[in-house]
Amino acid sequence: MPQIIILAAGKGTRMKSKIPKILHTLCNKAMIEYIIEESLKVTKSVDIVLAHKFKEVKQKIQTYNIKIHKQNLEKFPGTGGALISLMENGKFHLPSEKLKTAKKTKNAKVLILNGDMPLITSKEIKKFFEIDADIVMSIMKLDNPDGYGRVLIENGEVKKIIEQKDASENELKIPFVNAGVYCFKKEVLEKYIPLLDNKNAQKEYYLTDIIEMAVKDNLKVKALEVKEEDFKGINSKKDLAEAERIMCNRIKNRWMQKGVIMRLPQTIFIDAYSEFEGECEIESGCIIKKSKIIESKIKANSVIEEAIIKKSEIGPMARIRPKSEIIESKIGNFVEVKASRLNDIKAGHLSYLGDSEIDSGTNIGAGTITCNYDGKKKYKTKIGKNVFVGSDTQLIAPVIIEDDVLIAAGSTVNKNIPKGSLAISRVPLKIVKNFYYKFFKEKDE
Ligand code: UD1
Ligand code: CA
Repeated sequence: MPQIIILAAGKGTRMKSKIPKILHTLCNKAMIEYIIEESLKVTKSVDIVLAHKFKEVKQKIQTYNIKIHKQNLEKFPGTGGALISLMENGKFHLPSEKLKTAKKTKNAKVLILNGDMPLITSKEIKKFFEIDADIVMSIMKLDNPDGYGRVLIENGEVKKIIEQKDASENELKIPFVNAGVYCFKKEVLEKYIPLLDNKNAQKEYYLTDIIEMAVKDNLKVKALEVKEEDFKGINSKKDLAEAERIMCNRIKNRWMQKGVIMRLPQTIFIDAYSEFEGECEIESGCIIKKSKIIESKIKANSVIEEAIIKKSEIGPMARIRPKSEIIESKIGNFVEVKASRLNDIKAGHLSYLGDSEIDSGTNIGAGTITCNYDGKKKYKTKIGKNVFVGSDTQLIAPVIIEDDVLIAAGSTVNKNIPKGSLAISRVPLKIVKNFYYKFFKEKDE
């Protein structure tokens, strides 16, 4: 079984962030999770090297069945340093049970992946194992090679990789860059890792130096040309934004192929965890995260998070917050729903429905608010079937409104209302004749 090692120990300084680089997200999912998941599609034998913010990263990825290692960043910094940490007594130390079989095999291969290339797919990874060579490396031809190591190619043969910070002005113009994936014969790695040094601009141990050494020793080094849309390395927040656009497009294209209608999809954000079932329509400007949408229409500029929406119409400009379940309902503009179960209801305009349960046939008038928080605790509002809640009603939770209740507009409801009743709370309206003209004297002519 092939072995994959993911390098994810670096500080990611260029990201200028408190969050470890590889935990930054694309479509709501951490970069490193994409890489781990794609790697696990190829092999069960996945190792990862961490160091920077070790605990935080480890915590995030601990549910994956992979082996975690720690790099000594002080003593051996750099991508080569990450691999030095995996060597023991001149042998490549990969203690995972599965590797024992690979060790015995003569042609055991080890694929190395940078942890900051979240767009990589299992399909692309597999290609590296299919090529027969001592080293297969990945190159891209870019109009803007900035940020990558340049690959020196002479007569169609790879000669060496020059890191950007070590490159001369002429070398910086080379359009071929190292994409950051390498497949080595295991004994090749074992031979060259101990030979790496840190005599370069960054005083780091560069994994990439192996290429020049291997070429000089006449080993077979092959370059696989790949596309940036699969191999883009993330170094800055700008890179992150560009990669997120690519990832989000992949996600949206997949759902459109499965039958979801999207109006101006370039304006829609759908995260990696959302799902659609049956024919759904999503209008422009919507944001949908960790939700399940079934046979529903989500109108323009609505935001839906951790919710289940079934056979409903939401928006435009509605906000559905976590733990909401909306079934066969119509939720209109400027309605905010949180942790509520709405079944066959209508809430057309300007309402806040939080921690509530509302049953079928009920109409929520404009401006209705569930007052669910008293400054200390949250309380529930329960509304039964066929209730008519008049506009501008405040429901002071905890409160239960039974079936067939009519609540008059402008009421403050602070008691449970029994089945079939009218609830009305109003200050009597006072009319003072000609008051207007007295008050605005100057207008009174
Ligand atoms: C690296 C390559 C460069 C290539 C680019 C592709 C080297 C020396 N350079 O450069 O040729 O064009 O990737 O994207 O390899 N890491 C560690 N330990 C460290 C340093 C880094 O594990 O001490 C990890 C990082 O967490 C990251 C990956 O290795 O996931 C790449 O590191 P990064 O610093 O981004 O390398 P680049 O400068 O982009
Ligand atoms: Ca990088």
